[in-house]
Amino acid sequence: MVTILGIKRLLEAKRNGFFSNISRRILVLGCPQPEALKILKLNDVLVCHPEKSVIQKAQELNFQTLVDFERCNKIGVLRSIRTTIVWVTKSRRETLFNIALAFLITKKTGKIILTGEKKDGIEYAMKKLSAMIEPVSVISKSHGKIGLFQRPRYLPKALRSWKKKGELQKNASGFFSAPGTFSETSIDKGSRLLVSHYSGKLHGNVIDLGAGWGYLSSEAIKNSPSIRLLTLIDSNLSALNSARLNVASSKTRFFWLDLKTDVLTLKNLDHVIMNPPFHIGRKVDFGLGLTFLGTAKKILRKGGILWMVFNRELPYEKSIVSLFPNYDLLNETKNYKVIRAKKT
Ligand SMILES: C[S@@+](CC[C@H](N)C(=O)[O-])C[C@H]1O[C@@H](n2cnc3c(N)ncnc32)[C@H](O)[C@@H]1O
Repeated sequence: MVTILGIKRLLEAKRNGFFSNISRRILVLGCPQPEALKILKLNDVLVCHPEKSVIQKAQELNFQTLVDFERCNKIGVLRSIRTTIVWVTKSRRETLFNIALAFLITKKTGKIILTGEKKDGIEYAMKKLSAMIEPVSVISKSHGKIGLFQRPRYLPKALRSWKKKGELQKNASGFFSAPGTFSETSIDKGSRLLVSHYSGKLHGNVIDLGAGWGYLSSEAIKNSPSIRLLTLIDSNLSALNSARLNVASSKTRFFWLDLKTDVLTLKNLDHVIMNPPFHIGRKVDFGLGLTFLGTAKKILRKGGILWMVFNRELPYEKSIVSLFPNYDLLNETKNYKVIRAKKT
């Protein structure tokens, strides 16, 4: 989330010349709200982000966009980058990856600007980077920092290992995951609980809403041989790319969609499986879960089944009752509730 404080910090950096003499394309990594870039009045901005809503917003603002780095390296869209701005994200792995990309992509002697808030880990990132490359200037402002670095002619070796860390890698549970995605280091406890309830019971046309790196689907395909087609949907392309590796089966298909804005035209599904998101960035967003519930209702056939786990603190049950009056609470733990709901 880019807050007012984040914007104040950018403006302070602008007053201090961080953004002066920028003539060529500017690459922006990790920025969750491209609106913040408008206040800098920069031309020729290329926003790179795995989240579909960020890309859609950037396009509305007439910025150029990029989602998949591996592919774009080949088409040379990044050849002319002389300045890169990196926002720290709450995933250290993602932040170090983005910093490494910034230094690898930005032309020699170009500018790299690193910004972010204390609560997102700017101090850690600034310290790690400054230990390798002396900053030109660092400003501490509005509960965060912004630093200006010059891309050296020769890059420290550590940057290559930071880049490697960010590539799709097996996590502690043995699945591929991407930096910055949900439960990147291991299987989520709620998801594990949900799987134990639908295991062996799915058949026909199944969909995984908010599939992430594909844990729910990988178990579904392993333990329910009667599945005919399994569709995985997520708004984060990096998560979906990991899922492609984790759920390798000829029965699967993958869609990069944002359920808030994209219209899902599928219908007559036999089963929906989901562990819906409940925040956008750091902000709890109960509405997002409701969008998922509404989508599940819309795409299921009559008699189709929704399998869902959610954090028991979240007041979903009222909406579940009104959308799916025919539902069972299958399990209730200290942290989670698991439901099975039939579309009537
Ligand atoms: C709680 S995670 C569950 C991930 C995975 N199903 C699991 O159980 O490990 C929710 C997922 O929903 C995705 N998501 C968040 N907002 C979304 C949206 N608007 N449209 C589609 N997917 C979204 C997130 O990227 C995340 O992967």
